Amino acid sequence: MPTISTSPSIADALQIIWHPHPTLRRKSLSLTRVDAELKRIAERMFELMYSSNGIGLAANQVGLPLRMFVMNLAGKKGEGEEIVVLNPVLSKPRGNESMEEGCLSLPGIYYEVTRPRYITIDAYTITGDPIQAELDGMLSRCVQHEVDHLDGVLFIDRVAESVRKQVDAELEEFEVDFDSRRNTGSIGSDAEIEKYCQEIEQRYCRTT
Ligand code: CO
Repeated sequence: MPTISTSPSIADALQIIWHPHPTLRRKSLSLTRVDAELKRIAERMFELMYSSNGIGLAANQVGLPLRMFVMNLAGKKGEGEEIVVLNPVLSKPRGNESMEEGCLSLPGIYYEVTRPRYITIDAYTITGDPIQAELDGMLSRCVQHEVDHLDGVLFIDRVAESVRKQVDAELEEFEVDFDSRRNTGSIGSDAEIEKYCQEIEQRYCRTT
């Protein structure tokens, strides 16, 4: 009789994490291997992104400290183009543009952020094909926001000094909510989160 694997799936358990979850501040490591589970993880990230009406989602926003993000500027399944980006490197920033941003890890918070208008990206698709492009507009904006995530940076770190106090007051509500969810056990301790991150890094980021 065939047996069915009962090993726990990483993908099935993923949920979007909110500020101030520590994995949002972890610098994600480059991927050195791709497996079938990583493809399921990317699929699950698209599902979570669409159900929260987002256009981009970084792996560490679902608790995985990996240099990967998913994106679809149309924000709807079956529309636009789904892009999975691995190990992105940005270069040649040019110009300046201010635009309102939001984030699935900070629902309900929107502020203007100034970033370079143009950026060059070098990266890989999940099937190992190289990506090289000069970006402009929403694509440039979204990619810069997601790569910030991989470096542990949130868009609220980049707001104007004039709105800093207002932002901090809004963040405090998230911090109170985080503490209460941790007290009820729905979010693990820092040590448990660290152990999980190391297991993920061991699986996908080994260099030997
Ligand atoms: Co975000």
